[in-house]
Amino acid sequence: MVEKRMIRFLLVFSIIISVSIGFVKSHNDGGEWSCNSDSEIRIEADFRPGIITLDGHPDDWNDVDGFEFSLLPALDPHEDDAYEAGKMTVKALHDGNDVFFMLQVDSPYAYSKGENTKCPSVALMFQVGENASYHNMGGCKESPDSCSRKTCRGHEVDIMHFSIGNAIPGRLYGGNPIDNREGNGGDRFGHLVDLYTWNPHCRYLDGISPSGNDSSAQNDWKGAWWHDSFQVLSGFVEEDSPYSSVGQNGKYYFEFSRPLRTMDRLQQDVQFSIGQSSNMAVAFWYPIDGKPWHGSGHYSVSCDWLPLDVSLGSSVVTKAASRSSGWDAASAFSLLLSVAAFCLSVFVGYYVSKNKSIPFTPMDHL
Ligand SMILES: *[C@@H]1O[C@H](CO)[C@@H](O)[C@H](O)[C@H]1NC(C)=O
Ligand SMILES: *[C@@H]1O[C@H](CO)[C@@H](O)[C@H](O)[C@H]1NC(C)=O
Repeated sequence: MVEKRMIRFLLVFSIIISVSIGFVKSHNDGGEWSCNSDSEIRIEADFRPGIITLDGHPDDWNDVDGFEFSLLPALDPHEDDAYEAGKMTVKALHDGNDVFFMLQVDSPYAYSKGENTKCPSVALMFQVGENASYHNMGGCKESPDSCSRKTCRGHEVDIMHFSIGNAIPGRLYGGNPIDNREGNGGDRFGHLVDLYTWNPHCRYLDGISPSGNDSSAQNDWKGAWWHDSFQVLSGFVEEDSPYSSVGQNGKYYFEFSRPLRTMDRLQQDVQFSIGQSSNMAVAFWYPIDGKPWHGSGHYSVSCDWLPLDVSLGSSVVTKAASRSSGWDAASAFSLLLSVAAFCLSVFVGYYVSKNKSIPFTPMDHL
């Protein structure tokens, strides 16, 4: 019996996680917030080292499964009011050190240099505190005069927000030595900032707080953007703005990375662990009909937290299988080692599959 289950586990273990395309159902009845999100949607960040260049270009993500979402108004999510131009596809992976995200949005080109609210914009939000809700960005009940690390303890949310009005396509923005020397999450060059919130009214750059600043903070994010309508052989410079003609069809691409762990000591950054899940959300702003967007006029891919699984590496099988030639002592020995490592991983996986309290979603899907 045990053997059968082991074989079944082996099969499961070697099957690549399938793409699941999710739809979110939600409604907002008379002021009382409610959300029926499809609980099966999980963003999978597989271990895929060495394939991503952080340049805003999507080609290197072609072999990575994406998750497609309708973009519904974040504050009043109705299917009828979805972003008309198209959907957003979210992709994620990690390389053992950094986690990477690619957001692709079907959208005509809009750009107005220096005016962030007349350009599209995206944000990622992550749960940090154990009691931080998706709704109301942490959901702390305090007002701006009373919210603090103490009064809102447990409601911390981590946010990365990229506004592209001053960001040249294909160039890297986010954490840089000048802003990081000042010890906060700002980005004076491209406005790809690292924030934390307790609720929508208590929102600060990392390191800045109403009760005093802490210069140990950093902007830990990096990112770039791109649009299909660009035709350029070498790099863009600022003088090329608006880089393409407004209204051209195509997709926007927003690409980000962050170390799995940061040096945050203030409960302002989410910390990712390989083999564990985090909760995230994705927001999108767009100047509809050329009108500037406002802060709360964003679309969201979900009306509650979306689980993000940072998965274990699972390339041992492929490595053992690809060792078919050159049977010298060294390769035989390394094969022996990888078989031993594989058996260990099967044992761990089997143990995990028995112990349901440890999240291990590939098993749950089957
Ligand atoms: C979260 O809420 C629970 C229940 O109200 C409480 O017991 C716990 O202390 C809270 N956690 C934090 C970190 O405040
Ligand atoms: C904290 O930093 C911000 C931005 O640099 C600054 O405006 C504010 O005066 C600082 N607060 C304190 C208490 O030093």
